[in-house]
Amino acid sequence: MCVDQLSAEPVEEAEIQPEPTAAEPEPEPAPQTDTESDGEYLSSCSEARGKKKPKLLNKFDKTIKAEIDAAEKLRKKGKLEEALRAFETLVQLHPQSPRARYGRAQTEDDMAEKMRSNDMLQRAINSYRDAAELPDVTPDLLRVALKRRAERQQFLGRMRGSLATLERLTQIFPEDINLKNDLGVAHLLLGDNKGARKVYEEVLAVAPSNGFAKVHYGFILKSENKIAESIPYLKEGLESGEPGTDDGRFYFHLGDALQRVGDDSAYHWYELGHQHGHFASVWQRSLYNVDGLKAQPWWTPKETGYIDLVKTLERNWKTIRDEALAVMDQSTRSFVPEDENLREKGEWGQYTLWQQGKKVGNSCQGVPKTCALLDRYSEATGCKRGQIKFSVMQPGTHVWPHTGPTNCRLRMHLGLVIPKQGCRIRCTDQTREWEEGKVLIFDDSFEHEVWQEADSYRLIFIVDVWHPELTAYQRQTLSPI
Ligand code: LMR
Ligand code: MN
Repeated sequence: MCVDQLSAEPVEEAEIQPEPTAAEPEPEPAPQTDTESDGEYLSSCSEARGKKKPKLLNKFDKTIKAEIDAAEKLRKKGKLEEALRAFETLVQLHPQSPRARYGRAQTEDDMAEKMRSNDMLQRAINSYRDAAELPDVTPDLLRVALKRRAERQQFLGRMRGSLATLERLTQIFPEDINLKNDLGVAHLLLGDNKGARKVYEEVLAVAPSNGFAKVHYGFILKSENKIAESIPYLKEGLESGEPGTDDGRFYFHLGDALQRVGDDSAYHWYELGHQHGHFASVWQRSLYNVDGLKAQPWWTPKETGYIDLVKTLERNWKTIRDEALAVMDQSTRSFVPEDENLREKGEWGQYTLWQQGKKVGNSCQGVPKTCALLDRYSEATGCKRGQIKFSVMQPGTHVWPHTGPTNCRLRMHLGLVIPKQGCRIRCTDQTREWEEGKVLIFDDSFEHEVWQEADSYRLIFIVDVWHPELTAYQRQTLSPI
């Protein structure tokens, strides 16, 4: 079985989030933190590559084949308790039998899934190791047992353990490119891009046309901001169509790299990403989505249903502005520079009040009236897939076209200090300008881009709100971004 793993990126480095555990399934993969941009790593599965029937029985196992088959039959029929008893009896009678131990591991694995039990899964993980460690294990059984062990370790979030398992596997089977590719993924899941890079360099040295390695290598280069270099790897990797390459993140980053070098073929790749089901549309490229939500780039207050919030923001804009200006004066350090590699050039800082539906530290102490105004609006303060923050942008700033991570929020911008000319925001093919005391609302899962070409700074207040069509239950249960 292949289990894919995804996480959005707080910063441009690939760092991975453990997969939802067996006990706590999630409706969709959970990104690590929130932010603007999207695209982080993912695990993928090399299972389907190159198969012939594995030889799992050693000489001794063949002498107890009938018993093994009987237990296996129970497992296949889903009679898991009976199967487990049968395999356990076999292991007791024949502790030297790798196949019996492997059968026990698989049965525990199946049970873990059925019971959604992490404890049972841990048992299976141990049993796979026990099977692999027996002296007369066949190479094929050793391989499948350790591969599955590594995969289940990843599923449980045991990334270090999984890396150790895959390191061992690649030492035992140094010729096996697929295992090396999986080892690279294990490094990425640990946020160890350097380790992953080395592995894929090794793979590409011996297998220069390996699509899986190419697409991952390109992803790593892109995350290191080697934009032009990443393009051919991502492109050729995707073109290979190899298993494990058709992932939204690779289309996302290839398109982004192409846009940054001014190559319009970005939209060809976005179109393909859309056709392959990764993007809601060419323009709307968030990867953490709830299906079926109304999707349009710009919204009126009435369309959102949050008229009261918009009115409160607009009526109190001067109070909000003055508090923000006081914070800016006291210490520019409270405004943190944008760190998601979204800028081509310029200076852009943010002062965050709420993030993932929670107040950030003591940031409200600096702007108490603003926070008090917001406290009544849970559509904003409770928006676990968004933020509430001030955003100050200096002249000479250009923010690359980019897409937020989720379609679950809409983004309000209240103009606080807006130079007469030179500041604008494009969302899809419509460009707008801020006005002091007025709210703009857009869906930042659509491509947007910002220019600050004025001669003084621009200050806005950003308030993310839940997409109005999300139910109360969804607002409670969606994973934070
Ligand atoms: C964005 O939300 O990406 C930007 O528009 C924010 C900003 O400060 O302009
Ligand atoms: Mn943005």
